[in-house]
Amino acid sequence: MESQISENVYYIGVNDRTTARFEGLWPIPQGVSYNSYLVVGEDKTAIIDGVETSHALEQIDTIRRILGDRRPDYLVINHMEPDHSGSIAMLRNAFPGLTVVGNATTLSMVKGYYGIDCDTLTVKDGDSIALGSGTTLRFYLTPMVHWPETMMTHAEEAKTLFTGDAFGCFGALNGAVVDTDMDVEPYFPEMVRYYSNIVGKYGRFVKKAIEHVGGLGFETICSTHGPVWREHLGRVVDLYSAMAAYEPLDEGATIIYGSMYGNTARMAEAVAQGLAQSGVRNIAMHDVSVSDASYIIADIFRHRRIVLAAPTYSDGLFPLMAAIIEAMAIRGVSNRKVALVGSYTWAPKALKTMTESLSGSNVEIVGDGLSVKQAPDADSLEACRELGRLLGK
Ligand code: FEO
Repeated sequence: MESQISENVYYIGVNDRTTARFEGLWPIPQGVSYNSYLVVGEDKTAIIDGVETSHALEQIDTIRRILGDRRPDYLVINHMEPDHSGSIAMLRNAFPGLTVVGNATTLSMVKGYYGIDCDTLTVKDGDSIALGSGTTLRFYLTPMVHWPETMMTHAEEAKTLFTGDAFGCFGALNGAVVDTDMDVEPYFPEMVRYYSNIVGKYGRFVKKAIEHVGGLGFETICSTHGPVWREHLGRVVDLYSAMAAYEPLDEGATIIYGSMYGNTARMAEAVAQGLAQSGVRNIAMHDVSVSDASYIIADIFRHRRIVLAAPTYSDGLFPLMAAIIEAMAIRGVSNRKVALVGSYTWAPKALKTMTESLSGSNVEIVGDGLSVKQAPDADSLEACRELGRLLGK
């Protein structure tokens, strides 16, 4: 898709509306864009990031239409994950002499993935290349946002920062590219889901990266996924900063429960009642056997309060709940209040396992947790409501 986004910066990315799961893991019902950009200087031109392999011909065709008789001189690689680097080899074939620009870690991955070790230019933090008469690209190394090689590129005179995955979101681009030309609201929930699913483990690196480039004075953010941010740039940076610090985005609650025959589900419903009675208004409920983990993880990053309710299974914890707790641990989820409800028929392992799994994490377990034998009676359900009220305080 071709779109001019400033005097000498063009969007040359593509939409993917056919892949079911990003990285083979995360559902993308609204699709995803693989953003790429072309910076056209008086003397030289630079592509910023490629696209996924199956879209390479579209990207090459777009570049040819924009440049006419000219050729791209540089291919700057901010990020090597193949949703962006997949077109490198085809770009080099289409445009002989194209110089691949990256830091040392990037270029070792270029060789490892694509066998390319010539016509490359290694850059360090703060290095720049000039494209002619007031068009300068300067590079800032921002490792682990989201891979070790990730960096950002600042088009200084255009005040445009190319950020790789940072500030990205799920959702293909439906006609417009820049946020001023679209309804941006559908992209914000998908930004929380994208961040929490993909980058959530690397919060401290995202925070460091935002500090590293925060003083550059950029007015446009061009990430590798989702809209180009101009009007809503501040909101996007604030949202990413909050998520990187593991700050809850609101005071709501996420209730995640597993239930084989409905008894634990009834307990989860009772906890929800208690939360509502205590004044919590934003309550999300997920049956862990029904909701995709992608959406559960997003709500965990969104809400301050979390309820985990699950039965004992094979003398341990209901496996799908164990997977959610592992997903929380992998991402270092912290600054959350958590209430626990276990259930069992003869072996009371669920509450014990959940408590042990969360020990050492930076979440606050509220109350003593409940462990209910077989079907909940009226007293058990009232205890669940009381736990909800306590969590909601
Ligand atoms: Fe969009 Fe980490 O790749």
